[in-house]
Amino acid sequence: MRVINFNAGPAGLPLPALERARDEFLDFQGSGMSVMEHSHRGNEYDAVHTEAIALLTELLGIPGSHEVLFLTGGASQQFAQVPMNFLPAGASADYLMTGVWSEKALEEAKLVGIARIAADTRDADGRYRRVPREEELQLDPSAAYVHLTTNNTIYGTQWHQVPDTRGVPLVADMSSDFLGRPLDVKHFSFIYAGAQKNLGPSGVLVAVADRAFVRRGRQDIPKIFRYATASENNSLYNTPPTFAIYLVRNVLAWMKSVGGLKQIQAWNAEKSALLYGAIDRASGFYRAPVARDSRSDMNVVFQLPSEALDDRFVSAAKQAGMVGLKGHRSAGGIRVSLYNAVTVSQVKTLVSFMETFAREHG
Ligand SMILES: Cc1ncc(COP(=O)(O)O)c(C=O)c1O
Repeated sequence: MRVINFNAGPAGLPLPALERARDEFLDFQGSGMSVMEHSHRGNEYDAVHTEAIALLTELLGIPGSHEVLFLTGGASQQFAQVPMNFLPAGASADYLMTGVWSEKALEEAKLVGIARIAADTRDADGRYRRVPREEELQLDPSAAYVHLTTNNTIYGTQWHQVPDTRGVPLVADMSSDFLGRPLDVKHFSFIYAGAQKNLGPSGVLVAVADRAFVRRGRQDIPKIFRYATASENNSLYNTPPTFAIYLVRNVLAWMKSVGGLKQIQAWNAEKSALLYGAIDRASGFYRAPVARDSRSDMNVVFQLPSEALDDRFVSAAKQAGMVGLKGHRSAGGIRVSLYNAVTVSQVKTLVSFMETFAREHG
């Protein structure tokens, strides 16, 4: 029996993608071995790699100026690798601070060069409850790039429009909302996302990069850390995480089969409306700390009247077959992650559980 999985990442994957992997696990397309036992330079794996890139290109409508890269080291490694590649000596980069992951990205950039805070929505208590408004951005027109986190997994905030950086290259950590909605790729010079939320298992990171921007990157760093190396070698400079990319391919094929990003976005909007609706209707019991215009469709956070009730909520939900609801250790409360694999009907099950719980404990 599979549970209803609201984990923040690694997170639930669409059942058809897992079933396909199960069916092909021991004998991939009659080859007598698993896809993970194939050479990354053989025809069988090559077809998977190529198909994953083609599916992502089609789903996102990636223009010819941009390309897909498969990288490793998670988003955390990109916090360091982005400035290593794109922050030349003496130049400065702008960081938009909206949560813990932005803080980590900034810290790494400061070890590489000059990194400036161009907006910061941290409250006096150290928490973030919204993303900045356009007029709050203090952008440096000569910055090497602007970095933002499009969805803040821990605090449950999300940018709902792309900020205008007036020509300065935009670099985005989209780990927790990549492929949750359509995207105009050309606004971004470099997008990166760990796979383990909307895309697949952990172990692979997907980047969508402006080819020219990447090729202009610094050459005075080790080859393995240059994005240009991945770009010049179709992400096959060294052995990629083949099985993780295979699973990403399965997830992308599933996304296409259900109608692509428009359908996914419609489901995600319906799911988050159902959940925020339930929170707002019981606002004396469930409290959502995030400003309305910054509410995330991917990670919904709220609190009950006491920590003891938060804990009871999490354990009662578990008994009812729903897991992954405990808030991040640095934020507390409840966090419901509504990634693409979570269905509308699963959210309705949670909402009805919440209504009963509020009646019984309110
Ligand atoms: C927005 C965001 N950025 C970065 C990370 C760190 O990712 P990783 O553990 O793959 O390095 C996470 C992890 O949850 C995240 O949600």
